Amino acid sequence: MKKYLIANWKMQLLNSEAGKLAGDLVEEKIKKDVEVVLCPSFTALSFVAKEIKGSFIKLGAQNVWYHEKGAYTGEVSPIQLKGLGVEYVILGHSERRKYLNETDEEINLKIKAVLENGMTPVVCVGETFEERRVGRTDLVLIRQIIKGLEDVKLEAGQKLLVAYEPVWVIGTGQAIEPADAEKALRVIESNLKDIFEEGDDVQIIYGGSVDANNVSEFVKEDMFSGALVGGASLTKEKFQSLINKV
Ligand code: PGA
Repeated sequence: MKKYLIANWKMQLLNSEAGKLAGDLVEEKIKKDVEVVLCPSFTALSFVAKEIKGSFIKLGAQNVWYHEKGAYTGEVSPIQLKGLGVEYVILGHSERRKYLNETDEEINLKIKAVLENGMTPVVCVGETFEERRVGRTDLVLIRQIIKGLEDVKLEAGQKLLVAYEPVWVIGTGQAIEPADAEKALRVIESNLKDIFEEGDDVQIIYGGSVDANNVSEFVKEDMFSGALVGGASLTKEKFQSLINKV
C-alpha cells in the first residue's frame, strides 16, 4: 500500500524558511513507498518547487479558486498552480471552513476544478468538539462527503484523497484515540463506496496532531493510507522521524 504524508505548512513559514526546509528534506533518504507532499503558502510554492525539482518529493497547495481565469481579485487559479508544478491541493481544511466560511458547495467546485486540471484533491472532513459532544460526528462527516463530492467522478489515472481531521484535536498535540478515528474511518469508507466506482483510486488519510510517536497507530494496514501533518512537519528533524515511522 502506498502511503501519503502530506505536510500542511499553513501560514507558518516565510518563503525562505519554506525553501530551506524543502531543501533539507530533499537531502534525506525517503522510502520509496511513501509519497511525501509539501504544501507551503502560495507565495512559497516556487521556492519549494526549485528545491524539490528532480527529487521524489511532491508539491502541494493549501487552497485554490474554482475558475481558471477571470476577475477574481486575490484568488489563485488551478492553471496557475499547475504551472508551478503543483500536484496536490488541500481543500476544505477546517481552518478555511471556520475563518473563511468555506462551504461544502464551494469545496465541491474546487474539487472539480482541481481534477479537471490534472491535480489531486486532498479533501478535509471532520467534526468539531461540540458536534462530537452532541453525537453528530457521523452526520457531519456524511454531510461533508455527500455535498463536497456531489457529481465528482474520477477518470482513469485520477485520484482523490479524503483527510479525516477531527477539528478539535488539530494543533493540540493530542491526537484522537485510534479506536475513535477508526469508527470515523469506517463511516467515511462506506459513504465513499456509494459515491465512487469499484477500482477508483480514493484513499483516506488521518490528520490532527500526528507526530512520530503516534503516526504508526493511524497509518497501517486496515487503517489510514497516510497522514496530513501540520506542526510535526515544520522542522526537518520532526518530519523526518515521522516519515521513518510509517
Ligand atoms: P496538526 O495540523 O498536525 O498541527 O494538528 C494538522 C492540520 O491542520 O492539517
